Amino acid sequence: MKAAITATANYLPPDILTNHELELMLETNDEWIRSRTGISERRILKDPTKATSYMCGEVARQLLEKREIGADEIEVIIVATMTPDMLFPSTACIAQSIIGATNAWAFDVNAACSGFLYALNIAARLIESGAHKKVMVIGADKMSSVIDYTDRSTAILFGDGAGGVIVEPAKEEGYGILDVRLYSDGTNGKDRLLMSGGGSLHPATHETIDQKMHSIRQDGRQVFKAAVTSMADVATEIMSRNNLTGDDVDYLVPHQANQRIIDATGERMGINAGKVVSNVARYGNTTAGTIPICLAELDEEQKLHTGSNLVLVSFGAGYTWGGIYIKWQ
Ligand code: UT7
Repeated sequence: MKAAITATANYLPPDILTNHELELMLETNDEWIRSRTGISERRILKDPTKATSYMCGEVARQLLEKREIGADEIEVIIVATMTPDMLFPSTACIAQSIIGATNAWAFDVNAACSGFLYALNIAARLIESGAHKKVMVIGADKMSSVIDYTDRSTAILFGDGAGGVIVEPAKEEGYGILDVRLYSDGTNGKDRLLMSGGGSLHPATHETIDQKMHSIRQDGRQVFKAAVTSMADVATEIMSRNNLTGDDVDYLVPHQANQRIIDATGERMGINAGKVVSNVARYGNTTAGTIPICLAELDEEQKLHTGSNLVLVSFGAGYTWGGIYIKWQ
């Protein structure tokens, strides 16, 4: 028995942070940001009383409405995030309480930008094993909470947002989540993209704050190189394992980090640009949110039909990366 996505939803906070506004805060410019990243603006969850769980709640409520089911029917909630409301309890438990999904068990997955694909794979296995029938998977990040807005190498890249899906048994054989390849490489990745403060190694102190250890740091060039290679490799691996040509793929749904990485992946797959989903110009990199946000937009635009072949690929901190092949049911 395969698992299939039966509902999609996303939530983007209404406040927009444009490149021109960043020009006033940092030594950067709109032309540089657009040509190097493809990003024009990103969304920011400005209300300080609202965090990642708020966006999860907004997504979860829409998912229930679209699927026309009650919160009590959800058996598992998995939230992929690297910006949880707090270290514990999990953001998934907080989201559970927001929607009143009293029959669910809930937990978070932290695989940074690959979090949604990791979580979707876990959901698919829970369905395939017969253990569960309705799993909610949400990817959500309030990246503005961990950005140092004096660091131009990261401040321009990230935004806040969330997306999610409901996963259930596929109605028919040959449809649903058909193949998954997931990878991690801590040896090469663990020091390249990180937030070192606030965990058990460097608990918060005045010193960790002074050294800005509670914000993201990255070696952009190294991460860029690894992302281009890994995303293209896993995308072509998924295609060859499933005998898919560029013509067979209806949509590549890539993690939205940088338009140049997205374009390179599409080119390696040999698919035309119109099949490569991109909204990085509008939202920047929302980390675990990017892929489910794209899926919900495709769905909203009625571009997903029975039999559509989707290849989802991601790359992020860890390093973590992966690909998932879905035949839409
Ligand atoms: O989701 C996974 C997580 N992250 C990523 O995937 C990000 C991967 N990396 C990237 O997307 C790119 O490496 C960046 C967008 C971060 C940087 O682009 P780049 O083409 O790799 O630029 P660079 O770091 O090589 O910097 C080129 C120049 C440098 O100046 P010099 O040394 O050539 O004089 C930088 O100081 O651009 C300068 N620069 C900037 N200039 C204006 C760096 N950031 C900025 C900026 N505005 N924001």
